[in-house]
Amino acid sequence: MMLRTPALFGALLGALAAPAVAAAADRECAQSPGKVIEVCVFTRDGGAFYEVSRGGKPVLAPAPLGLTFAGEPAARITGLTAARRDASDTTWEQPWGEQRTIRDNHAELTVSLAGDTALNKTFDVTFRLFDDGLGFRYAYGAIPAGTSVAVTDERTAFKPVGAYDAWWYEGLGQERDEYLYKQTDARRITLAETPLTLKRTDAPKQGEGGLYLSFHEAALVDFPSMLLAGDGAGTLKARLMPWQDGTLAKKTGPFTTPWRTVLIGETAGALADSRIELNLNEPSKIADTSWIKPGKYVGIWWEMHLEKSTWGSGPKHGATTANTKRYMDFAAKYGFDGVLVEGWNEGWDGDWIANGDKFSFTKAYPDFDLKGVTDYGKAKGVKLIGHNETAGAVPNYEAQLEDAMTLYESVGISQVKTGYVRHSGTILDQQGEKQWFAGQYMVRHNLRVAEVAARHHVSIDAHEPVKDTGLRRTWPNMLAREGARGQEFNAWGDPTNPPEHTVILPFTRMLAGPMDFTPGIFDVVHGKADLTRRGQSTLAVQLALYVVLYSPIQMAADLPENYEARPDAFQFIRDVPTDWEVSKTLQGEIGDYIVVARQSRGGKDWFLGALTDETARKLTQKLDFLAPGKRYEAQIYADGPGANYVTNTTALAISKKVVTSKDSLDLDMAPGGGTAVRFRALD
Ligand code: NOJ
Ligand code: CA
Repeated sequence: MMLRTPALFGALLGALAAPAVAAAADRECAQSPGKVIEVCVFTRDGGAFYEVSRGGKPVLAPAPLGLTFAGEPAARITGLTAARRDASDTTWEQPWGEQRTIRDNHAELTVSLAGDTALNKTFDVTFRLFDDGLGFRYAYGAIPAGTSVAVTDERTAFKPVGAYDAWWYEGLGQERDEYLYKQTDARRITLAETPLTLKRTDAPKQGEGGLYLSFHEAALVDFPSMLLAGDGAGTLKARLMPWQDGTLAKKTGPFTTPWRTVLIGETAGALADSRIELNLNEPSKIADTSWIKPGKYVGIWWEMHLEKSTWGSGPKHGATTANTKRYMDFAAKYGFDGVLVEGWNEGWDGDWIANGDKFSFTKAYPDFDLKGVTDYGKAKGVKLIGHNETAGAVPNYEAQLEDAMTLYESVGISQVKTGYVRHSGTILDQQGEKQWFAGQYMVRHNLRVAEVAARHHVSIDAHEPVKDTGLRRTWPNMLAREGARGQEFNAWGDPTNPPEHTVILPFTRMLAGPMDFTPGIFDVVHGKADLTRRGQSTLAVQLALYVVLYSPIQMAADLPENYEARPDAFQFIRDVPTDWEVSKTLQGEIGDYIVVARQSRGGKDWFLGALTDETARKLTQKLDFLAPGKRYEAQIYADGPGANYVTNTTALAISKKVVTSKDSLDLDMAPGGGTAVRFRALD
């Protein structure tokens, strides 16, 4: 039964106690703390719907809510039976991150809905409203403990009002999330991964800013990851990565789904600077996080991608004791924290992608002395970074996980890079059933690895991962992930990343969390004449990426000799930190350009990274983010005379000048170029 609540009675209830519980009206609305965003929920024609406006103007038209379960029809929603309101304004601190303190200022509205099927008889939807967007999630709290249910459909949809362009790639492709983005009319989306970013294209009225949206999810735990399917008319409907039998999620007893999130901003940079993703995750489950360290690393890695050495054993084996010590000497000399070594363990010989179940995660090749190199590193203050390529043979990895992490902890390895190189949808589980790379099975696996690793004080950098959903707040040992086309594509070609790729990522993939892109390739050409088979950027770009693409762990990915050949440029990589007090996206358009500034955590220096696409671009940047009244030495690494991403990638102009917050800086970027700046505090 639905009760109508007179407005006055509702207001009285609200004044009496918080959270306020009221018998619901048939339409319940709530506003964000600054009254910027409003959501309304209502039932109509047997369905439950929500709609969103910003500044009084509709942004998302009414779209359905709810889940459907196996064994029963899609429920008719018969009423909105209760509404509960709450608000919270807190600040919390990240153990590491792009921003030390994060404010979580939100209003909350929970509505209870009644449906006409057994499992949908009653369920809740909770909305959290921030001034820069919202999240909502379902709670099926009435499912009896011990009762197994299977989700067969999520009805959630997003219906943007107006015309939009989208940056996206086809979901469920065999290379998972490693695709180039295409920009199209949002109505042309067939199936897109999230975060999915949209920009409004119908001209805003005079005086109005632009409008940018990002759809994603937060706190993806024990549930399949969400894709969005387009209907050709602009509606985007949730599509969850299924199990092999078509079931989407398997749950037992009462459960809550991940948050579905919408970021809403007037600039592309506002999306990048939103902290909703983190705020919608639970606080850390790791009590003592002091062992989790951001940092910079080098590695026996690029040389394999350039085919100078091999992962497998033999005369060109890269992961030898001697080679590792060489990299450790280099790391110690130039102040790096770690050395990643790939191909150290048995299982790489032959077709390793097909034979992932042959990988050992504890047995080193005979020419790699695990204890010898970790001891050698210890004496120099350099850690070995472990590598667990699974080739998607998850049961083989899970069977060894505890032993492997125990071993790594015993020799002082505190970071492990994992990998799941296998075509999406062909991972075989313990029952021999095929699994998608980010279905519920892999989401569970992902967390299991983090949990076991945490017990052994090991942090994880996952490649070919389940996409990030802000879980690093809850599991701060989930340091970084890949989950997009990284630098490695600039070794392989087919084709390499075009200049616009790294000015799309900050507004798309990066909205999910840190990426292990592996910047810093100085010799982007590496002997290849064909532009599509080598890196398409200038040297200044390779420096700016350390600031633009946030990760708490950043690799200096090139060969040591290429750094020693350019000590001038290398100085920036040596100086740039990976842990920040504050981060700000100062300018940017998706796929065109970006300017980001970050202040070193616990320090006074600021760093700036700017990138352009294939078009040369001059930007003026106000330095008003610097501390007022203080002087800084700006160390500017700009594109040199004649620099461009096609014929002259290495021209770099380094200059220095004293600036204050009252100054502006002209950024003069070459085609496929950029600028990196360190502002060294003088006062
Ligand atoms: C793909 C990863 O992205 C790359 O970094 C790694 O070197 C290879 N897999 C081998 O594990
Ligand atoms: Ca990869």
